[in-house]
Amino acid sequence: MINKQQILVKRPVGMPGADTWELRESPVPELKDGEVLIKNHYVSLDPAMRGWMNDTRSYIPPVQIGEVMRAGTVGEVVAVNNHPKYKVGDVLTGWGGVQQYTVTNGDNYYAVDTSLVPMPTYIGTLGMPGMTAYFGILEVGKIKEGEVVLVSGAAGAVGSVVGQIAKIKGCTVVGIAGGPEKCKYVVDELGFDACIDYKNENVHAGIKQHCPKGIDVYFDNVGGDILDAALARLRMHARVVICGAISQYNNKENVKGPSNYLSLLVNRATMQGMVVMDYAKNYREAAMQMGMWMMEGKLKSKEDVYDGIENFRETFMRLFTGEKKGKLVLKVLEE
Ligand SMILES: NC(=O)c1ccc[n+]([C@@H]2O[C@H](COP(=O)([O-])OP(=O)(O)OC[C@H]3O[C@@H](n4cnc5c(N)ncnc54)[C@H](OP(=O)(O)O)[C@@H]3O)[C@@H](O)[C@H]2O)c1
Repeated sequence: MINKQQILVKRPVGMPGADTWELRESPVPELKDGEVLIKNHYVSLDPAMRGWMNDTRSYIPPVQIGEVMRAGTVGEVVAVNNHPKYKVGDVLTGWGGVQQYTVTNGDNYYAVDTSLVPMPTYIGTLGMPGMTAYFGILEVGKIKEGEVVLVSGAAGAVGSVVGQIAKIKGCTVVGIAGGPEKCKYVVDELGFDACIDYKNENVHAGIKQHCPKGIDVYFDNVGGDILDAALARLRMHARVVICGAISQYNNKENVKGPSNYLSLLVNRATMQGMVVMDYAKNYREAAMQMGMWMMEGKLKSKEDVYDGIENFRETFMRLFTGEKKGKLVLKVLEE
């Protein structure tokens, strides 16, 4: 059995080029005692993968040159050698990497039930991005009914869930997204109260218009100028959740820091970073709650699925061009 894998061969500076990864084929190794073979159907493409390519200190070690590119996956167990927990036919999600088959002892994998939602949802709303949204807005943002919440990256995997949870909790929710089509989707389909098109509108003016009394919680997925614009409109005791800064990930220069940070002082506000993995012990509880909201029709999940491990780089780049809606997923083997 042949495994196709995307191997990191060069650390990119700026946008990852065509020479960043190499598609390699190698035989699937024999299973040792206690191992399972997973056929990966879907690979999660996440902005964080860009950070994992840099040789810098972070919350997890970087991917090494010559290694399979790290990524979340969901797939089916197709062979087992004496595993205590998993059997052939189980569907597991975990860190399988950008490859068609993964051999693992099953540590850090979770079994999922595909009779409830389709497989890709387990790497989207019921997977890492959904968990980020849930704990980010509830535990770090500490939203309360009636508050005004501003979310950047609003049409994306994390932002779309953040805004919907804030609506469920009775907040006024304003999104920021790129382009009129995405903004329409955020308001008409996801139920946000308004959405600012940062590619065609003045973000400062948009925030002033849609959050006339200011912002109680800003959930930041993009950093840069949009973070600065949000800081300028904070209310007293506001919370700023630093989830990500995608506008800065491919910078060749230093990350652009917020010049309006004294708004935190004036408004006795807080700005707090979060890493989803810190909440791992509570994922099950969050998944149950979000699954319930999905069944009740209160939470919509959208995955944008592209085909073929050969198309990994082109598909990954959609995270930075914005040419996708919802959670970006790569299908690497048919179900
Ligand atoms: N802290 C954590 O534990 C954690 C966990 C998961 C994700 N994150 C972070 O959360 C953020 C969102 O992740 P995601 O998986 O939900 O990605 P996503 O929003 O589904 O995809 C990325 C989106 O970012 C937008 N974007 C790209 N370049 C931009 C720029 N220069 N300025 C403004 N927007 C830009 C694009 O949307 P538009 O078309 O709207 O431009 C694109 O669709 C990322 O920063 C990610 O690193 C953090």
